[in-house]
Amino acid sequence: MSNVILVKSDFDRFSEWADEFRKHDILAVPWDDMARHRETVKYALVWQPEPGALASLPNLEVIFSVAAGIDHLKGEGLVPAGIPVVRMVEDSLTAGMVEYIVYNVLRFHREMPVYERDQTNRIWKPRVQQSAWDRTAGILGLGVLGSAAAVALHRLQFNVIGWSRNPKQVPEVTSYFGQDQLEPFLEQTEFLVILLPLTEDTGGIVNRDFLNKLPRGAYVINAGRGPLVVDEDLLAALDQGQIAGAALDVFNQEPLPTESPYWKHPAVTITPHVASITLPATSTRHVADNIQRHREGKPLTHLADLSRGY
Ligand code: NAP
Ligand code: GLV
Repeated sequence: MSNVILVKSDFDRFSEWADEFRKHDILAVPWDDMARHRETVKYALVWQPEPGALASLPNLEVIFSVAAGIDHLKGEGLVPAGIPVVRMVEDSLTAGMVEYIVYNVLRFHREMPVYERDQTNRIWKPRVQQSAWDRTAGILGLGVLGSAAAVALHRLQFNVIGWSRNPKQVPEVTSYFGQDQLEPFLEQTEFLVILLPLTEDTGGIVNRDFLNKLPRGAYVINAGRGPLVVDEDLLAALDQGQIAGAALDVFNQEPLPTESPYWKHPAVTITPHVASITLPATSTRHVADNIQRHREGKPLTHLADLSRGY
């Protein structure tokens, strides 16, 4: 096997990666064995590498991010100059995210947190149900994952709008773009789905002013990155009823510290950064395809732009 890939994953499952890469004739070596393979490694598949580690590989040609987001690769000494970075775009990751978003929008739309509370108190209290087509889901970040979630929500007959940097054409989804169109997007959004990357432009975007532009009683679902949200402002908006509920998968600090007020907030649902997880069986295909392209001198797919941040 002439293609050697160094793997540093987010979960401890090296043998699974190695088995899947072997099917593509790629030899995976574990991160801890870097010193032994320094000269032969041409590719690296990484999540949160230590500063300087990738720069110590003299024959490294391409870096693959285990994650769709590349914020974990931003920082002094993380990525050696001139080495391309490919971000993760693969079917399971997209499917998992669509499930998480659809599940949470439906959960709020059908007031499941309220019924769960009622059940705890043995309360039988039917509430009037609204039609999906009378409700608007707004997707903040209409990229690979946001577009797929938008299409799925539209299939369930929600009115779906999206916001991105550039105009988008997603069937049946109204595209808002740029700073000027953020306000009209927010004014309609009853279910805010956050799927932006974390960049210099987006950090802290979900602050008090932003939340106050949403209709009163809106819901927030954050599957993008924790630092997109100003925690104090979201907690205040939840306490004031401006935001009726939040499903949070990502946090400013992970693992979420035990003292975080989110843990005990009655209107907050927490998951530990699992909205969607990169799976070796499917993602190794994406990596193997790109390695093949690279060897044939073709352009890589899903190249990230480190200076842009996604
Ligand atoms: P993507 O395809 O790169 O899409 C990013 C979207 O954000 C694009 O529509 C982009 O607009 C928009 N955007 C970026 N900066 C913007 C700005 N300043 N103003 C307005 N729009 C902006 O990324 P993706 O694959 O959908 O992934 C999105 C994020 O999801 C990742 O970066 C990661 O943080 C998160 N994620 C989380 C999990 C999890 O388990 N929680 C799993 C996977 C991914 P343009 O297209 O117009 O440039
Ligand atoms: C996970 O958070 C990802 O960016 O893929």
